[in-house]
Amino acid sequence: MLEIDNLKKTFDGGTKALQGVNLKVKRGEFLTILGPSGSGKTTLLRSINGLEKIESGKIFFEDEEINDFSLPNVQKKTGMIFQDFNLVNNLSAINNVLTGLLNSSSKFFSMFYLFTIEQKLKALQALETVGLLQKAYNRADELSGGQRQRVGIARAIIKRPLLLLADEPVASLDPKSADLIMSLIKKINKELNITVICNLHQVDLAMKYSDRIIGLLEGQIIFDQNSPNIQKKSIEQIYRL
Ligand SMILES: Nc1ncnc2c1ncn2[C@@H]1O[C@H](COP(=O)(O)OP(=O)(O)OP(=O)(O)O)[C@@H](O)[C@H]1O
Ligand SMILES: [Mg+2]
Repeated sequence: MLEIDNLKKTFDGGTKALQGVNLKVKRGEFLTILGPSGSGKTTLLRSINGLEKIESGKIFFEDEEINDFSLPNVQKKTGMIFQDFNLVNNLSAINNVLTGLLNSSSKFFSMFYLFTIEQKLKALQALETVGLLQKAYNRADELSGGQRQRVGIARAIIKRPLLLLADEPVASLDPKSADLIMSLIKKINKELNITVICNLHQVDLAMKYSDRIIGLLEGQIIFDQNSPNIQKKSIEQIYRL
């Protein structure tokens, strides 16, 4: 469903964040990207949904090359979750989830919360999927970190994306909440058949939940293995410094 060919990205100032990444991801796969800080994990995810402009190389989403013309369609089919949740604190959980239905051209309507009954039902359903229906009308800032990330997930899945991009979704959470969030992402991956690409720092969680793990170092993929067969040597390679 996704193919990345020779993707390169150099930031102003000369940092070579990605140095020729090649990657194919199959529909339904749960892929984790491991790599030390600064290895390019976030840049890679952000290049897929257009938050970072593709400088050189190509990305194909469902066999369609991503460019300025096709990007809105890719964004419609892609959801993203973040380390720091990116919720609007003074909005209720359900309204945060509903913002997942907006594209930039419909931001105007968001100011008035002109959502239809169907959309509100979809939001409640997404909150139910993440086990947070009872908090639908609580403000985001009344929720715990784990609960906030569940709202973040509900916001990402309300539009039923084909692809879920997760950038260190559990980095701000305690180990128990982290495990719960990862199991939830896995459930969504399997039950809703949503392909997942997830950046992580925790090797144990990567091995427990993903089908496949790639190791990124200095903007290059240095291993690509199915997680049951992952070798200790590979892990040591990326964290060698
Ligand atoms: N907007 C930017 N401008 C300049 N340099 C950037 C920018 N964003 C990222 N970089 C640089 O690109 C490199 C890769 O950054 P990136 O955020 O992709 O790493 P990462 O693997 O996600 O790291 P972490 O694990 O700390 O989140 C780093 O050297 C970083 O400093
Ligand atoms: Mg990052």
